[in-house]
Amino acid sequence: MTVEPGTRVLKASTGPDATEAIATAAACLKAGGLVAFPTETVYGLGADACHGEAIARLYAAKGRPAFNPLIAHVGDVAAARRLAEFDAAAEKLAAAFWPGPLTLVLPKRLDCPVAALALAGLDSIAIRVPSHRTARALLDAFGGPVVAPSANRSGHVSPTTPAHVLADLRGRIDLILDDGPCAVGVESTIVALVGAPTLLRPGGLPREDIERVLGYALLNPAPSEVEDAPLAPGMLASHYAPTARVRLDATAPREGEALLAFGDAPAFDGMVLNLSPRGDLIEAAANLFSHLRALDAAGATTIAVMPVPHDGLGEAINDRLARAAAPKP
Ligand code: TXA
Ligand code: MG
Repeated sequence: MTVEPGTRVLKASTGPDATEAIATAAACLKAGGLVAFPTETVYGLGADACHGEAIARLYAAKGRPAFNPLIAHVGDVAAARRLAEFDAAAEKLAAAFWPGPLTLVLPKRLDCPVAALALAGLDSIAIRVPSHRTARALLDAFGGPVVAPSANRSGHVSPTTPAHVLADLRGRIDLILDDGPCAVGVESTIVALVGAPTLLRPGGLPREDIERVLGYALLNPAPSEVEDAPLAPGMLASHYAPTARVRLDATAPREGEALLAFGDAPAFDGMVLNLSPRGDLIEAAANLFSHLRALDAAGATTIAVMPVPHDGLGEAINDRLARAAAPKP
């Protein structure tokens, strides 16, 4: 990968080069810089969670509305307990699923050091412990909480490769740690444990897995809550949107459309990308954002999307597709 003016890209896979890249990235965060790094879900845009000025720059780089709170990433549950109050359900979910693609929204501790700007003034805080080796190495080297929204311009689909990050943020951030594509491909599942346990955002950890550990069902936020006073403010109807129009549940593509297929695709003359020819939801999640970006970049005006089942990771995939298809503000 080449070096772009203003944004350095450092290989961070394995070996001494990776160690040096991680040290450079940690120093950059300490100095208030912005570092994009891979997680198992999507690439995040990291800043020192306790550095108000860095966070202000992060919002500016993303073009994100400042009322949208950020997820604090930490290395382990002990570090998470220094930020938030853990009840029995939180302990259970952390033990079962961290490190991994689960974000918990918890009551913030009074002495929580995370900058108020990063939390948009809320009394709760979203926390996750990522499992990706490079994310873990960076958190370890940095030694404190790192806030990281997905490393895309606000409203765009989340990046799952360093190239996606560059396409959105080149020249606007300091550094990208390149460790190839993300394995999960959709963002973390967000569960709020302030009041009755609620699924705020379906994501890389299926709802069924969480409910099995809790022993009861998660609530869904009322739609009015999501639209007016969003519990997870990033869950606006039109989010994760490509430039192209998106037509859902397309069983037959029309002339002039591009086709985003799942499973057996019909014969078709136009552009076709298949989320998973063998109909596997895990593979489909990993391909979702890169295929949407690729069809968009190829100039498709309408992307027809074949039906995707709703079970397991299908809930998150269908959620992102519905947002991609929603009318843009
Ligand atoms: O997989 C992920 O979660 C990725 C990687 C980088 O970790 N991050 C990510 O962050 O998706 P972001 O900022 O794109 O989405 C975070 C979501 C937003 O919808 C935000 O509104 C919500 O989390 N959120 C953050 N803090 C919250 C809080 N205290 N209460 C409710 N929702 C919160
Ligand atoms: Mg995002």
